[in-house]
Amino acid sequence: MPAEPSSPPSLPAGLVGQRVAGYRLEREIGRGGMAVVYRAKDLRLGRTVAVKLLAPELARNEVFRQRFMHESEAAAGIDHPHIVPVFEAGEHDGILYLAMRYVEGGDLRALISRDAPLPIERTARLALQIASALDAAHDHGLVHRDVKPGNVLVAPGTDREHPEHLYLADFGLTKKSLSLSGLTSVGQIVGTLDYAAPEQISGRPLDGRCDQYSLGCVVFEMLAGTPPFRRESDLALLWAHLNDPPPELRPHRPDLPGAVQAVVGRALAKAPEERYADCLRFVAELRAAGDQARWADGGPPTRVVPAVARARAPAPAPPPEPPAWAAPVLHPPSRER
Ligand SMILES: Nc1ncnc2c1ncn2[C@@H]1O[C@H](COP(=O)(O)OP(=O)(O)OP(=O)(O)O)[C@@H](O)[C@H]1O
Ligand SMILES: [Mg+2]
Repeated sequence: MPAEPSSPPSLPAGLVGQRVAGYRLEREIGRGGMAVVYRAKDLRLGRTVAVKLLAPELARNEVFRQRFMHESEAAAGIDHPHIVPVFEAGEHDGILYLAMRYVEGGDLRALISRDAPLPIERTARLALQIASALDAAHDHGLVHRDVKPGNVLVAPGTDREHPEHLYLADFGLTKKSLSLSGLTSVGQIVGTLDYAAPEQISGRPLDGRCDQYSLGCVVFEMLAGTPPFRRESDLALLWAHLNDPPPELRPHRPDLPGAVQAVVGRALAKAPEERYADCLRFVAELRAAGDQARWADGGPPTRVVPAVARARAPAPAPPPEPPAWAAPVLHPPSRER
């Protein structure tokens, strides 16, 4: 099995009850390989938020600090129903922090562990929300780089037709690229490599299609109950992403039509130019392929693909810019603060 995050982030213990910038930390929600997330109270507005504190060693890495601030700012600038709203990013006593909407309900990791393998309709419905968030980010010139189930938060939906509302979190917070480009001093790979695109591994320039590959891995896992490549070591896993053909879904899901395999296989193509032009197109094809099974006896449904395409077009007129006082607060990192 590939190594999971090895060492917990080296943040001071006992931070619950403490004040960090304008927030009182109330309860630890969870921790990943490089950060701890707390439910917290915004003391200025009295509202509940999530505050993510990044490990101090990341604050000391100048490349990471700059990218953290830059990408937090970029993510805060995207107003999208499936991107977790960022309220503030900054540095407090040498710790980088990010304040964002508190999403109650867990993440896609937990949903997959509980419910996978998922029916194709549910998979497509969940993937559609992630795809729309990713395409919006890509339209803003932002590549997520760490699309994985742990970075997709799951809130209760509005009704039975929409039982879950997903939020994509953690733009620019991957330490994978730091590890893979040799920037980490630790010399080890932290976090999962189950969803890393070949061009990320080989250090080539990245665009939105790298997120599409990762989304393809997540879709594969929702359908199969396991990510596409499972290997004995990180090295073997990297090799598989680079060289092994996309694995078959059929052994896991003999009930799915072959067209689903073809669609997922295309999102998992080694060369970005062989994938779909964008993530919504991938999911539209996935949905259409799934419908082939549902409608095998009664003929195809009427025009499934345009229904999804409508989610993007026509582009509405951009809303007027909010006044400067309404913008998220982003403090430039500075060692003196
Ligand atoms: N805004 C939020 N609201 C509620 N829970 C959150 C929020 N952001 C993150 N979490 C939860 O906090 C936990 C830790 O998140 P974190 O991003 O540090 O780790 P991760 O994404 O699981 O792993 P990695 O270290 O590889 O990024 C996750 O379980 C996630 O579901
Ligand atoms: Mg995360």
